[in-house]
Amino acid sequence: MLSVRDLTVSLGPERAPVDIVAGVSFGLARGEILGLVGESGCGKSMTSLAVMGLLPQPGPRVRAGQVLLDGSDVTQLQPWQRVEAGHGRMAMIFQEPMTSLNPVRRIGDQITEAVQVHERLAGAAALARARELLELVRMPDPGMQLSAYPHQLSGGQRQRVMIAIALACRPQVLIADEPTTALDVTIQVQILGLLRELCNRLDMAILFITHDMGVIAQLADRVAVMYAGRIVETAPVGALFEAPRHPYTSGLMDCMPSRNSGARRLPTIAGQPPKPSRVAAGCVFAPRCASVREACRLATPPRAEVAQGHEVLCAFPLNGGGLP
Ligand SMILES: Nc1ncnc2c1ncn2[C@@H]1O[C@H](COP(=O)(O)OP(=O)(O)OP(=O)(O)O)[C@@H](O)[C@H]1O
Ligand SMILES: [Mg+2]
Repeated sequence: MLSVRDLTVSLGPERAPVDIVAGVSFGLARGEILGLVGESGCGKSMTSLAVMGLLPQPGPRVRAGQVLLDGSDVTQLQPWQRVEAGHGRMAMIFQEPMTSLNPVRRIGDQITEAVQVHERLAGAAALARARELLELVRMPDPGMQLSAYPHQLSGGQRQRVMIAIALACRPQVLIADEPTTALDVTIQVQILGLLRELCNRLDMAILFITHDMGVIAQLADRVAVMYAGRIVETAPVGALFEAPRHPYTSGLMDCMPSRNSGARRLPTIAGQPPKPSRVAAGCVFAPRCASVREACRLATPPRAEVAQGHEVLCAFPLNGGGLP
């Protein structure tokens, strides 16, 4: 349903562009949750904003590539054209719901506003739809909450309101950028459960962005691992956790705390991701890679399919069990 092809987002002048997202491709089907994971600054948010047509202006721009929604390229459309063409069918939720909600307006008013825009309903009909949306996101006592202000709700309830607003346009694709990072762990589990339920019930696709491999393991069907503006590995979630093939993915997994890790210090991946303006020749991960070979520094690795639906951007993918 959504197909992103060679998406490149750049900064700087046309003559000397700096790519902060470099040739990203992925697909998303109905009822599927794709997890996009990677360290801070690797381009996850820029990818999602470019897909939504919401890149901050002035600044980053889509320099190349396509975002195909049901077969037509939305990067070529102005925002109003997207809505007119019926392509307003993507919605997004962010990390901190308080910054997206208006603190001085009631929850009910904020949801009905979205309902009015997308469904051209007004008055009692809009209010009824707002209540229905709050029920859909399993808000406790939805009738009461319509007249509450954002500060009267808990963090988890505010995120439910944001999800309700996002659902007002009946999206085919929901993009969630770290929606649970600001929540405590038990509330996080509830919100992840809600997203899975909505994905199934509404037959919606979800692009879920996080830097947390644990969240990916809980929620995603498929995973795309991003590093320095590139997707370095894509796989079904089970295959990825069983046998990561890119040394970066394997490194990210080693950094995951587990119940058995006790008081032992968790490993980290040495070094820092490269600045987008300082990407050297060869594999982008080579300077930090524990399994680096001479060839890695010379040429960009090819994209290899190591198993059905499992692709890796590495010239010497790890060998299933984790050894090169
Ligand atoms: N408004 C902006 N203008 C210019 N460059 C930006 C802007 N926002 C982010 N960047 C740069 O784009 C690159 C990708 O940033 P992005 O926000 O997409 O990372 P991210 O993977 O979402 O990180 P995080 O996990 O911290 O949210 C970074 O190098 C960042 O410095
Ligand atoms: Mg981000």
